[in-house]
Amino acid sequence: AFTPRIFSGIQPSGGLTLGNYLGALKRFAEKQDEGIETIYCLVDLHAITVWQDPERLRQQTREAAAGFMASGIDPTRSILFNQSQVSAHAELGWILNCVARLGWMNRMTQFKDKAGKNAEQVSLGLYAYPSLMAADILLYHATHVPVGDDQKQHVELTRDIAAKFNHDYGVDFFPMPEPVIEGAATRVMSLRDGTKKMSKSDPSDASRINLTDDADTIAQKIRKARTDAEPLPETLEGLKDRPEARNLVNIYAALSGMTAEAVVGQFAGQGFGAFKPALADLAVAKLSPISTEMTRLMADPGEIDRILGEGADRAEAIARPILDRTLDIVGM
Ligand code: ADP
Ligand code: NA
Repeated sequence: AFTPRIFSGIQPSGGLTLGNYLGALKRFAEKQDEGIETIYCLVDLHAITVWQDPERLRQQTREAAAGFMASGIDPTRSILFNQSQVSAHAELGWILNCVARLGWMNRMTQFKDKAGKNAEQVSLGLYAYPSLMAADILLYHATHVPVGDDQKQHVELTRDIAAKFNHDYGVDFFPMPEPVIEGAATRVMSLRDGTKKMSKSDPSDASRINLTDDADTIAQKIRKARTDAEPLPETLEGLKDRPEARNLVNIYAALSGMTAEAVVGQFAGQGFGAFKPALADLAVAKLSPISTEMTRLMADPGEIDRILGEGADRAEAIARPILDRTLDIVGM
């Protein structure tokens, strides 16, 4: 019986995208109203698994913090902090490296995607990333992890690691955290390629909508999004083999709070010449208050640093006793 607690994170490895917003940030904010403790982390130790320019990393970390707050995460109701400021993450990460099995790591599809044909040249950290992510979650005895669909496998690995730790040491110490993957847009796809997810690390800026894009840029990216020439069908079934169209419908649904079925019902028979401008208007209406608020927050970097520092103290107060107990269980 573990007290319900939510933990999740985002890498400050580039500007936040519409995918991060719909798959993660918007839902992180909603979770604050469910009466469960919420802990949100900018995972900069994960970001450096791929080389980051130091000054840019510092800047992107502040910008990501601003993006969290502008999306509705209230640092007085949630704990919002930067991973590297709580050293217990790295310490538990090492212990869990010694619990996780190579065979498990070898099955991680995100590593295969990110390493591509270059697997001999990527960092050891990129390979160990899921085990550090397990530490992030288990360090707080988190029970629920809201994530996009792409992170499901990593949360499942976290459960395997927790179960093996408990078994190997004969304890019932770590909970089995559950991935919470909800909403109409759990996997927002690239605007240029319906087979790839929208990502801040995609080299093509046209592939994604950034939370900092202005209204014209958002409208232009949606206008140029890849689609087919067919009108929208009567039912969702008709989008089965139309990933680009399905993606735009999902985005509309998630931004409007409608179901994808209702969106298709509303636009049935209309082409993208009509649907795209409606989507662009909706996206601009929902996203421009966020970008305005980010700009306002970014004007005072000292205040962002202060908020993150306070968040780190609160995170540390939960994490340190759990790390100490872990070390004790291990015989240290
Ligand atoms: P990215 O892949 O953009 O670098 P992260 O790996 O930092 O993002 O993921 C942060 C959170 O955002 C995770 O919960 C992840 O599942 C979610 N997320 C990232 N991209 C998408 C997407 N295209 N659609 C839905 N959720 C996403
Ligand atoms: Na990701």
